[in-house]
Amino acid sequence: GGLLVGLMLGGAVYAQKSAGKDDELLATARQLFGTLPEVVDNPQNPVTKEKVQLGKMLYHDPRLSKSGLISCNTCHNLASYGVDNLPTSIGHRWSIGPRNAPTVYNSAFNVVQFWDGRAKDLEEQAKGPILNPIEMALDSPEEAVKRIKSIPEYVELFKKAFPNEKDPVTYDNIAKAIAAFERTLQTPSRFDEFLKGNTNALNEQEKRGLKTFIEVGCAGCHNGPAVGGRMMVKFGVTGPYWEATRKFVTLDKPTQPVDVGRYAVTHKEEDLYVFKVPTLRNVEKTYPYFHDGSVWSLEDAVRVMAKTQLGKDLTDQQVKDIVAFLKTLTGTPPKHALELPVLPSSTAKTPKPQF
Ligand code: HEM
Ligand code: HEM
Repeated sequence: GGLLVGLMLGGAVYAQKSAGKDDELLATARQLFGTLPEVVDNPQNPVTKEKVQLGKMLYHDPRLSKSGLISCNTCHNLASYGVDNLPTSIGHRWSIGPRNAPTVYNSAFNVVQFWDGRAKDLEEQAKGPILNPIEMALDSPEEAVKRIKSIPEYVELFKKAFPNEKDPVTYDNIAKAIAAFERTLQTPSRFDEFLKGNTNALNEQEKRGLKTFIEVGCAGCHNGPAVGGRMMVKFGVTGPYWEATRKFVTLDKPTQPVDVGRYAVTHKEEDLYVFKVPTLRNVEKTYPYFHDGSVWSLEDAVRVMAKTQLGKDLTDQQVKDIVAFLKTLTGTPPKHALELPVLPSSTAKTPKPQF
């Protein structure tokens, strides 16, 4: 009997100790990451059911591209975690762009949009790709409006999504509807179960990985509900980033000039090689990594980060643990994001595809 009681007591003390450890980790994690809301609203563009439904259609509509072939979903495929899984994207007439497509899932948390932060929010961002000659390549905002106005069902949906507006089909409203849809694209994961207080939602290795992620300093930059997206910093704090990534660049990829990052926007010395800290939610699925898509394996990307951002060489165990933690950030897209919309037919007035 004595032995049994002893064992039970020992077990209880052990359970308490590890619960104490877990509680500490949970408290720290809650401070660093907070909670993931379903919708990230913008008072300037309140999310409504009507806007989200319309925005989802526009997101999938290739008629917003000159060729009639490319939609937002071409490069930010909602079925593959909001990315194209290419090193850098391919757009109009097979133009190969200079940067990797970031995911649209959880992008509403970004304090600025694009790798170089050149758009202030999703509403501003959505106006870019439609006109970008190497992406969707429409000639003008008027061209986008003309296409939408040629389709009566769309005109009706714009009236419903933007009631009280005299002329609801505008380029701004196209962007607003798309952005409203994107504001609903959060992907809760096992990590959120943990943050809610279920410390058993992560196994021992994943918890060790989270602890390491915090202790070595990753969470200094990758924090907030999206585990990133909250700041812009230099890629290569301890030395040129391309020296750390060069050995991973695949040989069949044409060598690219070094990307100066935010410097191209501000022309300020301190913005040289400054990039947005990306969200790490779904990072398991959004390979290849970095703004140039140079690194395919998550283990390698973690090693590069430790070296370039923190000047640290991680042990194999630390890398494995961190990767195990990062995989707990693989979430579930909301149901409506994975249901395809049915798009209205073109009419005789709709401009024909051009190549
Ligand atoms: C960046 C959405 C079309 C490729 C972004 C971002 C968003 C977004 C929200 C910023 C994400 C972030 O900074 O984390 C959209 C929408 C589109 C669209 C709503 C349709 C209107 C496209 C297309 C392509 C593409 C068709 C490929 C041809 C990219 C690339 C970036 C990007 C390469 C990063 C560019 C940079 O940072 O300079 N997109 N996108 N996007 N998108 Fe799209
Ligand atoms: C990118 C993980 C530390 C800033 C990334 C990526 C991963 C990652 C996996 C690629 C994401 C993608 O391409 O979608 C980590 C880990 C860290 C760490 C595990 C700790 C060992 C840091 C720190 C900073 C930082 C401390 C800030 C000083 C950035 C930036 C990028 C990035 C700016 C984008 C770089 C670019 O592609 O231009 N991180 N990170 N990271 N991280 Fe970290």
